[in-house]
Amino acid sequence: MEDKGHIGTLGDWKRTLGCGELRPSQIGESVTLMGWVNARRDLGNLIFIDLRDRTGLVQVVFDPQVSSGCHQRARPLRAEWVVAVRGEVAPRLEGQENPDLPTGALEIRASELKVLNRAETPPFQVDGAVDASEALRLKYRYLELRRPQVFELLRKRHLIASKVREYLNRRGFIDVETPFLTKSTPEGARDYLVPSRVNKGKFYALPQSPQLFKQLLMIAGFDRYYQIVRCFRDEDLRADRQPEFTQVDLEMAFVRERDVMEIFEGLMVELFREVLNIEIPTPIPILTYKEGMERFGTDRPDLRFGMEIVDITDLAARSGFRVFKHAIERGSKVKGIVVKDKASQFSRKGLDELEGLVKEQGVRGLAWIKVLEDGWQSPVKKFFSPELTRQITEKFQATPGDLVLVVADQEAVALRALGALRVHLAQHLDLVPQGAWQFVWITEFPMFEYNEEDQRLEPVHHPFTSPFEEDIALLDQAPLKARARAYDLVLNGTEIGGGSIRIHNLALQQKIFEILGISEKEAHSKFGFFLEALRYGAPPHGGMALGFDRLVALMTGVRSIREVIAFPKTTSATCPLTDAPSRVDEAQLRELGISISTGEG
Ligand code: AMO
Ligand code: AMP
Repeated sequence: MEDKGHIGTLGDWKRTLGCGELRPSQIGESVTLMGWVNARRDLGNLIFIDLRDRTGLVQVVFDPQVSSGCHQRARPLRAEWVVAVRGEVAPRLEGQENPDLPTGALEIRASELKVLNRAETPPFQVDGAVDASEALRLKYRYLELRRPQVFELLRKRHLIASKVREYLNRRGFIDVETPFLTKSTPEGARDYLVPSRVNKGKFYALPQSPQLFKQLLMIAGFDRYYQIVRCFRDEDLRADRQPEFTQVDLEMAFVRERDVMEIFEGLMVELFREVLNIEIPTPIPILTYKEGMERFGTDRPDLRFGMEIVDITDLAARSGFRVFKHAIERGSKVKGIVVKDKASQFSRKGLDELEGLVKEQGVRGLAWIKVLEDGWQSPVKKFFSPELTRQITEKFQATPGDLVLVVADQEAVALRALGALRVHLAQHLDLVPQGAWQFVWITEFPMFEYNEEDQRLEPVHHPFTSPFEEDIALLDQAPLKARARAYDLVLNGTEIGGGSIRIHNLALQQKIFEILGISEKEAHSKFGFFLEALRYGAPPHGGMALGFDRLVALMTGVRSIREVIAFPKTTSATCPLTDAPSRVDEAQLRELGISISTGEG
């Protein structure tokens, strides 16, 4: 007995197949389907619903001529009710087919209907445009996940993860779980801390990565380790950063850079071939950090388009433009990029906007030159002799119609600004070719960078990264010149992974801590366990971690990694669904020996 108030159970009903799996060859068969009401149309004598599950949609028709009881029971159905339907697979009436659906030539003529659950009117239409705010979509993320295209992203993620496992398993890597309740591992972010009840006043840190544990596994002789693992970093979030994210993390013993890189190249080739049917040419090109910075103004260059940075310091020094001359006298460089064929697209206002953009990057101005048939159009034209004009035009390989954009500043500042300008222009002017995949390795990173704020050296990678053998001598005199045996993998301008050959020599490790201003006492309290392990026969080793969310986002063509995470957090690190983080009971705090002193509590 079923009426409006009754919510049924499955009883002895068993599903035959998924809604989207029906095909015309099944016409005439009796099937049992279960799913959600995607849409309902009541034509009085006939009621139609689209029934949805994760496999897709199929049309169900309730016809009183087939079953009047069933037709009656279909009356109250609404969007997102959960139902089970039995009926016969039939061809749709001529002219009623929907060529956009794999099941579009079919319908189910329902003879039995069970309402398995009702649903309140959802806060946004499951089957509709993505018009709800992100906060609302995340609060009801399980409704958004009902959308087939959203489910498909997570299915792809699963597929890619499975292929990663298959690939690494075949190559003798062992999946080992490492602790989440642990001590801090420095990856450049803040730690999430977890208070201990049993050890009042003490805290665990959630790992920023399994870095030290994987190195311990090498010391343990495991030889090849991997893990698809969650990492936790309390940092400022962006579209490609989440407070918890997933790495494909691995480590290998007795290897050099090339061995680790080859494993990842093979992995990329296999994933792109099997998931996207795309052949990645190998070996993946390598740029040194220095080259990357000089030519593209960034350590994660997007090689899908040109617009390389050109240095015209020597030529600019011969001009009469005081801004350039003075800058050069103070050790600055003059550099620029050429935007092919776009001179006519930029008005004064457009150029001012570009100047605003580079100023945000810390440079003082932007000089522009429109290259025309009869010379330059530029606010700085008068400072350049015809000969110099010709030489600069040639140096940029610019031709009439091109726009040249030039900045004068300290080299690092000029490069960073032009690098950002280059990416902005490519996106803005649609210069990025669709469907292009450009991998590049960045190698020979500096070991350290100077942190102006804290007035001390910081590791560019992490403090367990080995310097180049031949640069060890530089560590004392010129540490900023020492290069690290680190490598990053960049895809289309996104850093998707990074790793290094590690230090396996205790004395060298201690030396690096010393350079970083980490006292012996601090090193002992933070990494004592690891330094101790280096005393017991650590093999040469190295590894790498891939940002799995970023890779999946790129492979599925979505803009933010949030779209490929089932339950992501907002850019302010909150979860609208669970309302985390949240306040806790006074009693719970007391048990932990914690009191809140922010004044808000
Ligand atoms: P690294 O810190 O470079 O290296 O991290 C490796 C990769 O992880 C991704 N990633 C992130 N993805 C999403 N959200 C974040 N907040 C986030 N932070 C990093 C990036 C990055 O390239 N232990 C070392 C690896 C090693 O040396 O083996 C490490 O964690 O794609
Ligand atoms: P001015 O002579 O100061 O009016 O500057 C002439 C042009 O040079 C303007 O377009 C400025 O934006 C540009 N300019 C000023 N400083 C710099 C700089 N450091 N690098 C490049 N262009 C600059």
